[in-house]
Amino acid sequence: MTIDIPKISQMDRGSVLHPFTQLKDFATGRIGGPTIVETGRGIRIQDATGRQLIDGFAGLYCVNVGYGRTEIAEAISRQAHRLAYYHTYAAHTTDELAMLSDRLVRMAPGRMSKVFYGTSGSDANETQAKLVWYYNNLRGKKRKKKIIARERGYHGCSVMSGSMTGMSFYHDHMDLPFPGIIRTGVPHHYWGAHPGETGLEFSRRRARELDELIEREDPDTVGAFIGEPVLGTGGLTPPPQGYWEAIQAVLKKHDVLLIADEVITGFGRTGAMFGSQLYGMEPDLITLAKGLTSAYFPMSASLIGEKVAGVIEDGADRVGSFSHGYTYSGHPIGAAAANAALDIVEKENLPGNAREVGAYLQQQLKAAFASLPIVGEVRGVGLMGAIEFVADRANKTRFDPGLKVGARVSAAARARGLIARAMPHGDILGFAPPLVVTRAEIDEIVGIAAAAVQAVVGELPPARGLSV
Ligand SMILES: Cc1ncc(COP(=O)(O)O)c(C=O)c1O
Repeated sequence: MTIDIPKISQMDRGSVLHPFTQLKDFATGRIGGPTIVETGRGIRIQDATGRQLIDGFAGLYCVNVGYGRTEIAEAISRQAHRLAYYHTYAAHTTDELAMLSDRLVRMAPGRMSKVFYGTSGSDANETQAKLVWYYNNLRGKKRKKKIIARERGYHGCSVMSGSMTGMSFYHDHMDLPFPGIIRTGVPHHYWGAHPGETGLEFSRRRARELDELIEREDPDTVGAFIGEPVLGTGGLTPPPQGYWEAIQAVLKKHDVLLIADEVITGFGRTGAMFGSQLYGMEPDLITLAKGLTSAYFPMSASLIGEKVAGVIEDGADRVGSFSHGYTYSGHPIGAAAANAALDIVEKENLPGNAREVGAYLQQQLKAAFASLPIVGEVRGVGLMGAIEFVADRANKTRFDPGLKVGARVSAAARARGLIARAMPHGDILGFAPPLVVTRAEIDEIVGIAAAAVQAVVGELPPARGLSV
């Protein structure tokens, strides 16, 4: 099928409200696009003009098994032919959903007991907030409701998940955050540590700060702490040494639930099946999306550990049925897609590939960028990597945001055939390719990124005396 590019572009410009797009610039044609993405295979996508791009960010870190996996397409088709939809209210299910749920509670870290399904990471975190409130109401702790979230954490865009997100541009002009969310510091050693403070000392300080925050707020009012095992949208930042151990000790002391937001880290990206396993986390609740179906179908999951599940099950005699659910909770096509995607993750040992090829990515990023004068930090774990650009390495000074260094490097990479994401907070170029990526493809990715950085350095104001 040939796409009529001008016609489709015009229809799109006239009618689609695109996320994270300057709407006026787009509507008036001051910025180009839309890019009409037509096909994908492996780690590459192709647009309607026939141009191929390496997708170094797996869509939005979600197409973990890569594009064009016919196994998943066939599973979706089979289920759609058999039964395209039925709901899961009032104890209805499908075989695919029951098998998926059993699989998830077995494979997940912690002691998981039940799975509640949604269609996005945002709604799964919205569910987690309600579960925290429900759990504490049912055990008579009616004040224990506040949720602690971190600066630069990302948990979604809906009302409560957007409030948990710790970046102000997700709140501005949208009347967020809602009350009931309290904020604690981000565990990013590069920016947050005191001079001479080791990673471990910094982690312990963050834990002390958390302890003081809970004491100040009153432990009887604090219900949960939410965190991504590895900070994602806030800058692709692995935690410093000992962070999760120190944080969990504080949460246990105050009877505060831990919600592990594994929307990015679930299903192999860090090199472990779950980020929680890599960092010794024992969450009470786990949020999953993205890699669950490798984005072949919109599906998310809120996993509920035994502690919470026991209380809400026991409470049912008093409060009646569980009054929360969506039309599409546990959608049978989503369940079939998830089972097929997870079959690939397991059969092809994608966490193993993320560990091995991810180590190579980290090594090559460090080799190519760590010593450049405009690079403050190269960091990452598994197949999540970031380069953070700074104006002055010695004094850790950020670039003038008006220079848009991160966005320019990302645009320069794209012009050379690579999608690497300009992360929204700071001048950060992010990498999170599909987990099927090979070493040779990593060489391509790093090579293009290096040429892009070189090109942008050449355009920066000469007063900085920068050279690569
Ligand atoms: C850690 C994390 N949690 C939640 C979300 C929200 O997921 P969604 O965009 O599917 O609502 C994201 C999305 O990037 C995420 O990275």
